[in-house]
Amino acid sequence: MSEALILSETRGRVGLITLNRPKALNALNNDLMDQLGAALLAFEATDEIGAIVITGSEKAFAAGADIGAMKDWSFMDVYKNEYITRNWETIKRVRKPVIAAVAGYALGGGCELAMMCDFIIAADTAKFGQPEIKLGVIPGAGGTQRLPRAVGKAKAMDLCLTGRMMDAAEAERSGLVSRVVAADKMLDEAIEAATIIAGMSLPSAIMAKESINRAYESGLAEGILFERRNFHALFGTDDQKEGMAAFVEKRKPVFRHQ
Ligand code: CAA
Repeated sequence: MSEALILSETRGRVGLITLNRPKALNALNNDLMDQLGAALLAFEATDEIGAIVITGSEKAFAAGADIGAMKDWSFMDVYKNEYITRNWETIKRVRKPVIAAVAGYALGGGCELAMMCDFIIAADTAKFGQPEIKLGVIPGAGGTQRLPRAVGKAKAMDLCLTGRMMDAAEAERSGLVSRVVAADKMLDEAIEAATIIAGMSLPSAIMAKESINRAYESGLAEGILFERRNFHALFGTDDQKEGMAAFVEKRKPVFRHQ
């Protein structure tokens, strides 16, 4: 059996995935990414799971793609086999909300992995960066595309061209992370946020996620139309009837996720 490079467990309706290569600061190799992809798709297929949290260790969410593994690869190796980027976009196939819970380093592919999640909750120890330029390459898993969308062109250029790291406070100021929490509370906070989300109607959560993502991929009029159609569609769910009836009856809704 291959080594367990990720740990997968459930906390109520939350699926918790922990990157588990601590000695290499969770450097992302193909095996780890394959295992991560499989764990994500397993939670996606489980009705009892409503949201997912991906986390790393105290020292590193992930310090990037595995430099030792890639150092001798040729263009043809990476082009034909999609080494490094193979399986990376699996996370985008997941329709349930995914939170990145980041402590320590989130560098290179680690920062890109966090940015592929729906939002990032950071410990005050978190450090983000795209240092690939120092290795003679550039970000290869979306860093030059997702970072400017998150923090704007100026800071994205600064980070990708100098390779410097930004701390949690700067990351929050610039809009990369949604919240910064004391390191010892960070995972609890992320699981609590995921638990709240998992308690909502799953169709609503999926459509909210799809609609916000559409804001990055279309013009305003197209995005508004997409949102409106999703809003209309939710009137076909049992959960809309339950959510609104519960409000009127001054009780908590019991969503059945349909
Ligand atoms: N790949 C492979 N191994 C890595 C790694 C990586 N990205 N990052 C850290 N490690 C390993 C180190 O080699 C070291 O292993 P050994 O104990 O066997 O020597 C171990 O993790 C601990 O690392 P350090 O001793 O370097 O720890 P440190 O505290 O002194 O420094 C660090 C921490 C600043 C994060 C430093 O490890 C570092 O700069 N890592 C590389 C960061 C990087 O360049 N990431 C981008 C990778 S390229 C990429 O991600 C491409 C892409 O876009 C897809």
